[in-house]
Amino acid sequence: MTELNVDLQNKCNVGDEADVEKDEDLVTPWDVVSKSETGVDYEKLISRFGCSRIDSDLIARMAKLINGPVHHLLKRQIFFSHRDLNKILDRYEQGKPFFLYTGRGPSSKALHLGHLIPFMFTKWLQGTFNVPLVIQLTDDEKYFWKNIPLEETIELARENAKDIIACGFDIKKTFIFNNWNFVGSCPSFYQNIGRILRLVNNNQVRSIFGIGKDADCIGKTFFPACQAAPSFSSSFPFIFDGKKDVPCLIPCAIDQDPYFRLTRDVAPRLGFPKPSLIHSSFFPALQGVKSKMSASETNSAIFLTDTPKQIKDKINKYAFSGGGTTVEEHQAKGGNCDIDISYQYLTFFLDDDEKLEEIRKSYSAGTLLTGHLKKELITILQKLVAEHQERRKQVTDEMLDEFMKLRKLDF
Ligand code: TRP
Repeated sequence: MTELNVDLQNKCNVGDEADVEKDEDLVTPWDVVSKSETGVDYEKLISRFGCSRIDSDLIARMAKLINGPVHHLLKRQIFFSHRDLNKILDRYEQGKPFFLYTGRGPSSKALHLGHLIPFMFTKWLQGTFNVPLVIQLTDDEKYFWKNIPLEETIELARENAKDIIACGFDIKKTFIFNNWNFVGSCPSFYQNIGRILRLVNNNQVRSIFGIGKDADCIGKTFFPACQAAPSFSSSFPFIFDGKKDVPCLIPCAIDQDPYFRLTRDVAPRLGFPKPSLIHSSFFPALQGVKSKMSASETNSAIFLTDTPKQIKDKINKYAFSGGGTTVEEHQAKGGNCDIDISYQYLTFFLDDDEKLEEIRKSYSAGTLLTGHLKKELITILQKLVAEHQERRKQVTDEMLDEFMKLRKLDF
């Protein structure tokens, strides 16, 4: 097998119903289903997908390069897997440019906490490495997959972009685009989509994504090229002066990996560098690590539009507890942090390592009760969501237009 195909040589089928029957987790860009109490088996996923674990050596290398601590999402291995992250670090070490690429499929007006994770982390990467960032809003994807009128997908993209901007991205270094509009204003982007489409056949799309079944609309078969194209610097001539060889690093949840396996497969044949990736695990639903958050299930997630009272009530009522059923039992046996959602959420949002460790110890020992653990989380999330809402209020349409304008970025 040539180097060309290494990204597809592993079992490239991302999963289908048959996997669930074989007791494998199902992980696709559209569905995540795990049968296990402890959720998706990420170790198995790494070997099935053919990516690499982010080990302590790699984290140490990063810390040394940036001359400071790495983000807690990385330190705690919530971003746990990668492809060719070392190559990006090599470039950084040599003072050569790279860029960041991430995105969001605008399927609902309100984002939930899980949607925030890749953006929080991307913001840290942007600030730490001082690099340009492109953010794709795949309104076309949601049009092909969901029953949403086309005009509405564009509206949702703009609404979501405001939440993304509220995460604090640097306007001088960030370009946000929605596919419906960008294809029309940037011929190079659509030409790259075309180049990718030319190299991928129906068989591949079917085996990588499980799409392209007889009754599927052909927009679904076409779409992966639209998510692949922003990985190439030549899609953004106004940012990169037409340079074709600036590689990118893509922070994303691991369910997006199939798109980039395909991208990495076609890149060398197009004469473009393969994108590097850094993958996160999934943010669990309130009901437990086994279930998935859904934007249409208001009680499965905390939304960025929730009031302090809604946050408090949802956590108290729905956050799955790994604690004992009675105080006596809890004190005798201790709580199980691995399945306790409030604890799990703290690993995402409480950056103080010492405090987190103290909570873990006392909850596991049974001295900290579930109610107190929840209270800790409620306070943190109420603050985080209120601050987000405050920043979002300040995002004007003019600001949004500036972020979405085709222009040079500072780097
Ligand atoms: N398909 C992604 C979603 O539904 C959106 C997306 C587009 C994306 N490009 C990306 C996510 C690059 C991560 C990285 O949310």
